[in-house]
Amino acid sequence: MSAKPTKNLLFFTEKLLDWNFYKNKREMPWKFEKDPYKIWLSEIILQQTRVEQGTDYYNKFIKKYPTIQKLANAKESEVFKMWEGLGYYTRCKNLIATAKFISDNLQGVFPNTFEDIILLKGIGPYTASAIASFAYNLPYAVVDGNVMRVLSRFFGISTPIDSTEGKKIFNELAMQLLDKKSPALYNQAIMDFGATVCKPMIPACTNCCLSSKCVALKEEKINEYPVKAKRIEKKHRWFYYIIIEHNKTFYIQHRTKKDIWQHLSEFFLIEKENEVDINTILKTQEFISLVDGKYSLIDMSAQYSQVLTHQKINSFFIHVALHKKTPTEPNMYLDKKIISKLAFPKIITQFFNESKMWKAKD
Ligand code: ADE
Repeated sequence: MSAKPTKNLLFFTEKLLDWNFYKNKREMPWKFEKDPYKIWLSEIILQQTRVEQGTDYYNKFIKKYPTIQKLANAKESEVFKMWEGLGYYTRCKNLIATAKFISDNLQGVFPNTFEDIILLKGIGPYTASAIASFAYNLPYAVVDGNVMRVLSRFFGISTPIDSTEGKKIFNELAMQLLDKKSPALYNQAIMDFGATVCKPMIPACTNCCLSSKCVALKEEKINEYPVKAKRIEKKHRWFYYIIIEHNKTFYIQHRTKKDIWQHLSEFFLIEKENEVDINTILKTQEFISLVDGKYSLIDMSAQYSQVLTHQKINSFFIHVALHKKTPTEPNMYLDKKIISKLAFPKIITQFFNESKMWKAKD
């Protein structure tokens, strides 16, 4: 089906709420929360993160920054360190900017209408609906990947979820299905249902309250929904990190460009489009001008990889000791204690945690 469904709408909402009342045992620290700050924080963390991983970060953040003012007044590098490992660092940057904005311009009071909430940096229709419904019980339906999967299966909607038409169909349908008297309850119910029953890979159809009228199940096409228009080809990038050591200090730079991992720290980086051998790296102009000819090659790591939404990063770490420091601006030689306080991309923290090359230097 590619048009918006008209049948079984009431059935869907009633069965979902029944399931929620009798069967839904899912517990999460932000569930039934009414403080818009805490809801906002949980939703930003959960935007691209699984609940299992996000829960620890949420608890850590709430403990350290129990109010929006505390977050607004925190040191930026400290907040980034807390975010380390969660990925999509623009979320963290926007979180800080929005906390400061609310603290400085709105007397620290979170806005209480959908129209004002959606104006905040880092907040789109999904997050605005979540905050408006959970905090203020306003009638806005959440529509994320989980919700679209549930709706596309139950109603057999084959319009791609990443098309303009698909977005319109799913948004309008979600608004029709929403229990306007209990938007918070309904929204949390459909999210929990998507996460625990109508799961992406192996949904629990034999035990599902909606199975008697589920189109995908009837057609035996559970795994064909939701339909996506675009297949994203991942770009491969090769990052050669040079660990430049001098007197127990290490050259660390900050990623400032508009690229992945903006605002995080890293070692000196030589990027290549293809895999190359170490001699090619040691002969690059960037490397030669940095070390000025006076260095010893100490070690090279195994390959580390990190898969992101649109790209795959492949990394090697090459450790060299400088005989004489050759500072180029803007650079920093830092000791391990200071380095441990900085936020790094996951591929580097993985290297820190796993590689004998780094650990042996403690
Ligand atoms: N994913 C995003 N928001 C969520 C929520 N409130 N509960 C469970 N999963 C979520």
